[in-house]
Amino acid sequence: MNYRENFMEWEDPGIALITGASAGIGAEFARQLASQGFGLILIARRKNKLEKLSKELHEEYSVFVEVFVGDLSKLDDNHKIISKIKEIDNLDVLINNAGYGINKTFLQTDITGHINMINVHFTSAVMFCHAAIPGMTKRNRGVIINTSSTAAVNKSQMGVMYTSTKTALTVFSELLQEKIKDTNIYIQSLCPGFTYSEFHDTESMRGFQRTWFPKEAWMAAEDVVRLSLESVKNKEVIFIPGKYNQNNTRKIREAAIEQYLNGKRL
Ligand SMILES: NC(=O)c1ccc[n+]([C@@H]2O[C@H](COP(=O)([O-])OP(=O)(O)OC[C@H]3O[C@@H](n4cnc5c(N)ncnc54)[C@H](OP(=O)(O)O)[C@@H]3O)[C@@H](O)[C@H]2O)c1
Repeated sequence: MNYRENFMEWEDPGIALITGASAGIGAEFARQLASQGFGLILIARRKNKLEKLSKELHEEYSVFVEVFVGDLSKLDDNHKIISKIKEIDNLDVLINNAGYGINKTFLQTDITGHINMINVHFTSAVMFCHAAIPGMTKRNRGVIINTSSTAAVNKSQMGVMYTSTKTALTVFSELLQEKIKDTNIYIQSLCPGFTYSEFHDTESMRGFQRTWFPKEAWMAAEDVVRLSLESVKNKEVIFIPGKYNQNNTRKIREAAIEQYLNGKRL
């Protein structure tokens, strides 16, 4: 493979560590990065899905693939992943992508449910960035993609904790990029809108129907990932894939600001 075919045009693509790699957007990051010559460390809870993907990608692209089974709501598992990150001397790409929704209100969800979501969406990403950045700084190269959501941009009221954790992840990404702006480390807060994946089929999203939202609001995970990787070099931290999401998110955000300025309750 010609090195120019990888999204950073690196001559020697190293390792990409991806959380939430057993399905959807994370599995698609794994596929596209393997096709570009990156070695992979795939993390999620479902071992069988990770192993199947690992076998498929190793056979197709002859890249190194390691599977790490971990539950990111558990700090012990996150500490084990930190140890793993510190062992890798060529970690080029960190993708904090694991996530899920809860189709219940704030009070219908018990407090452990909220703490778990904070850990999966935010705490784990902070822990892994903290562990990965020293090595990236030393090599003066690296890419971190934190999968957030358009919910972080339009401050969607659909889930209080979902929007809060994704907003925290986006602000964290923005502030972190500012701190390392003089390095060759790129940070992206990927903010997808509705994406076809397993997200809306999980037990915690029971009752959700894709048909509530227009067809044109939905994107394929493949396109979300391709556009995300293509835009990393622009160094714009917040990246919203797809014209539909970009236009509508702006509209929703402007409407929210207008309401705020009018002193109305959001
Ligand atoms: N799909 C959308 O419409 C949409 C829109 C905006 C943002 N996003 C974000 O995109 C990211 C990827 O979601 P997706 O759409 O690809 O959904 P998905 O197909 O359901 O994939 C979610 C991934 O996260 C992993 N995961 C969930 N809980 C975990 C935990 N406690 N520990 C470790 N891994 C965990 C899942 O693996 P296991 O179950 O095997 O652990 C799976 O690999 C999420 O952060 C989501 O919030 C999705």
